[in-house]
Order: sequence, then C-alpha cells, then structure tokens
Amino acid sequence: MSIQLSLVKSRAVTLMDGKALAKKIHNEIQGEVERFRKETGIQPGLATLRVGDDEASRVYVNRKAKICAKLGMKSLKMELPEDLSEESLLTEIRALNDDPSIHGILVQLPLPKQISASRVLETISPEKDVDGFHIQSAGKLFTGEPTFVACTPKGILRILDEYQVPMEGAEAVVVGRSNIVGKPVAQLLMARNATVTICHSRTRNLAEVCRRADILVAAIGRAEFVKGDWVKEGAAVIDVGINRTEDNQLVGDVEFDEASKRAKWITPVPGGVGPLTIAMLLSNTLEAAKRLEKEKRKE
Ligand code: GUN
Repeated sequence: MSIQLSLVKSRAVTLMDGKALAKKIHNEIQGEVERFRKETGIQPGLATLRVGDDEASRVYVNRKAKICAKLGMKSLKMELPEDLSEESLLTEIRALNDDPSIHGILVQLPLPKQISASRVLETISPEKDVDGFHIQSAGKLFTGEPTFVACTPKGILRILDEYQVPMEGAEAVVVGRSNIVGKPVAQLLMARNATVTICHSRTRNLAEVCRRADILVAAIGRAEFVKGDWVKEGAAVIDVGINRTEDNQLVGDVEFDEASKRAKWITPVPGGVGPLTIAMLLSNTLEAAKRLEKEKRKE
C-alpha cells in the first residue's frame, strides 16, 4: 500500500506588534530623558497645536501630549478655535520658536480652510520641526542628508527593522502619495536599497502592481481598499490606515483577514503603525533638545 502524503501548506503569519515595540521605545526614551535632565538640567519640551473641532485630531493630539508628559518631558498643549486667523497661528508659532523651554513644535493637520498649511509648516523653525514636515526637512530627506524624518514613515522603517524584513533589493510598493506618509516612506525605502513604486488613484492595474510587492505599504485612507488577493505570498504588509466603518469598527486600508493568509508579516489596526508614530515623535523631540543644547554650548 502506498501512502500518499499531501503536504499541507502551513505558514503562520507574523503579526508586527507596534504597541509592544512602542512601549519598548518609550522606556528607552524615558531613561534618556532622565539622564539628559540630570546632565544638563534641561527638560525636553514639546508644544502641540490643534486648531478647530476635528474629533480625530483631538484624540490623536491628546494621546501625543499624554505620552510626552508620561516620559518626563514638558508638554504644552494649545487648543485654538476653528475661526483662528492664519496670522494669529503664525504669531503663536513664532513665539514657540523663541521659547527656550520648547524643543519640538507640532501643528496637527488638517487645518481649517482659511489657514495655509504650507505657510504654517514653513514658519516652524527647522530645528524644532519634530514632525519633519518643513520644506527644509523634506528636502534633506530627498537629498539624503540627516534631518528630522516624519514620524509615521520613520516608525514604518523601525518596525520593518525590528522584524528583520529584508529591504535590500526588495520590491516595495507604496499605495498613497501624501507628503506625510507616501512620499517620505518611499524615500526611506529607497535609501535602504529597495526598488520602490509609488501608486495612487490614477495608477493603472493597481492590483497587479501590488502583487509584485515584497513590501506593501498601504497609506490611502480608505477602509479595506487593498484586497487580500493583491498581496504576494510571503510579503510584508504595512497598513497605515485608520478608518471607522459604518458599524463603528476600526479597520485599516488592507483587508486584514485575507491578506494575513498570504503575508509573512502584517501590521494590525489598531496596534500596528499608529503607536510607533507617537514613539517617533517623542524620539525626535528628545533629539531636538539634544541638538539645541549642543548648539547652545558652542555659542
Ligand atoms: N495629521 C495626520 N498625521 C499627522 C502627523 O503625523 N502629524 C501632524 N502634525 N498632523 C497629522
């Protein structure tokens, strides 16, 4: 009697745990903040500015400010009215640029219609640009000079490194071309020698392009837009989306269950990329305080 063994494919997907990684980074930052304070007498300080009544922005900024304070940094939270003029916001930012107790300035986006985001972001001193949104920071990233890197893209690279996802020579596909995520993460992946394709709403054969990806980054902001069968077997899937469905569920930009059957690594939503964005913001704030202190000593 011959026994036929059918080889059942069983390959478990690895969940990339952003929450646990963020916790580890927070602990490291907390220790460093304490050491820095002892050595220099300086407490790193982050100012967060939120304009208007957007509920999601309120939740995000509160979370950032809360963790900032928890790690021993100064947290200055400014909540400004929806009808604030652009000039008033610029005045606040200029005052924070000159405030020696503040080392990082974050203006939560989006801003109300009457305010130009680019004017606002360019008014933040590049030395305090912990969000990495100033045109100088973006230009330095583009040309490969050291700079503050936007927090979500920086967090994506950090989690890929943590799980030892190979980037060298990999095909990386980024879905979404925003200044906040898509463009900077593409630069970072390219700097690590991945071959990068950026897709967007006009991309032809999007499913086919995604199926080429060893690393697939979804940053479109549309619930479960990336289908499970767009994922290549063995790929790393990074889901940047946070969307609420009609029945009030939080879902990402990727069809998680189906994608998990094919991926080798995948980030959950929530608990994937989100917590790392905050960890990177606080890491940038500590870095800004260190750099500003070093500059001051030179004077
Ligand atoms: N809006 C959405 N994401 C971000 C972010 O990372 N920083 C700021 N300032 N605004 C955002």
